[in-house]
Amino acid sequence: MKRFPDDFVFGVAASAYQIEGAWDEDGKGESIWDRFVGQPGRILGGETGKVACDHYHRYKEDVGLMAAAGIPAYSLTTAWTRVLPNGTGPIEPRGIAFYDRLVDELLEHEITPYVTLYHWDLPQALQDRGGWANRETVDAFVRYAEIMSAVLGDRVKHWKTHNEPWVAAFVGHRDGVFAPGHTDFAEALAVAHHILLSHGRAVPVIRSNVPDGEVGIVLDCRPSTPASDAPADVAAQRHFDGFRNRWFFDPIFGKGYPEDMVDAYRDRGRFDTEVPPFVRPGDLDEIAAPIDFIGVNYYTALDVAAGADETEDTGVPPGQNPPDGYTEMGWPIVPEALTGFLKRLHDDYGAADIRVTENGASYSDGPGPDGRIQDHRRIDYLHKHLNAVAEAIEFGVPVTGYFVWSILDNFEWALGYSQRFGLVWVNHETGERIPKDSLAWYSSVIAERRIG
Ligand code: FCB
Repeated sequence: MKRFPDDFVFGVAASAYQIEGAWDEDGKGESIWDRFVGQPGRILGGETGKVACDHYHRYKEDVGLMAAAGIPAYSLTTAWTRVLPNGTGPIEPRGIAFYDRLVDELLEHEITPYVTLYHWDLPQALQDRGGWANRETVDAFVRYAEIMSAVLGDRVKHWKTHNEPWVAAFVGHRDGVFAPGHTDFAEALAVAHHILLSHGRAVPVIRSNVPDGEVGIVLDCRPSTPASDAPADVAAQRHFDGFRNRWFFDPIFGKGYPEDMVDAYRDRGRFDTEVPPFVRPGDLDEIAAPIDFIGVNYYTALDVAAGADETEDTGVPPGQNPPDGYTEMGWPIVPEALTGFLKRLHDDYGAADIRVTENGASYSDGPGPDGRIQDHRRIDYLHKHLNAVAEAIEFGVPVTGYFVWSILDNFEWALGYSQRFGLVWVNHETGERIPKDSLAWYSSVIAERRIG
């Protein structure tokens, strides 16, 4: 049995494009995801987030489901294009009004809102001017952060600038699998830098608007181990870790970009200078702006062998046979790697407040003959990962919160609606919601503040 400290925050998470729908309602502008889903072949089954979970209209019902389960915190993301349809320029009051209503509804139900400003849905108008590869997008983001924190800051005290810059940069600009669908490594590097810079510049702005609040960033982590002790495997794993983790955690924690990776990127990044050309004097200091917490999203880990393709993000699967199996995303289940990574953040980076801002599993279990959804495998996954968090806390790592991805089955990006991560099942035809057994289980974990 493991107990969680009294001030440990349990929550659930979701993101705007994945649940809101109402893609062009109330003056909302077009985002790069609105554009991307319309391009043939981009999304499995040609699906889109145009309606998604229709949370824009059903948010009261969704807040009600969270409240009934006694969930204390909800991490939502705001859609830039609802508030600034063109990314810059005039504010759309109806967009602001939606987030006002949502935040008020949460607070009325005693659910603490956590707000993330960017979960990959850049205004298309900014993409048309080069998107994140254009340094001017940094200023546009800072203005958006300034507006949101000014408007919601009286009620929202927990702010996150970005969600998973690695994904936005590399899956969006190197792999071409996510919006905007580019395949240019050098561009991906510039994008990553500008996203990090926009984070660093937004931090003091949010802080000055919400002096009694806190602000951080969410990075995805992908722990890995060398497939063997062979020097080539060890070197390959180090490179993978540099690509996937250190390139982001190092600058956020004031270490600058890792030199081994700068060297490794010179060719593909098309630069021959000591530092990449998009890094201007002072940038790294701004990126390292002190934060109140670091958020990490964790799903899986992998073994890395020499010769593995770096694009193989989720699994160089050399006969890998994880004892805990795989989720339906095909991701190996490796809870102990979460403990290890949390320790590393504390030991190597000195992180003083760490939140697991996303963790969860895709399983397609739906209603049985009695209508009940017995998603034991999700319960098992969450149990093991909460246990991994509790172990990190026992090691003295300051982990202060855990958020399940996700409250609802939703639009899983390029995979459309084929993956179900929710604690609540959603009928994507009718919008009907049915709480799964995992929601009841999580509810009792929260009430008892312990896992068996
Ligand atoms: C994370 C994303 C989230 C969801 C989960 C499964 O990388 O932040 O939107 O897609 O993966």
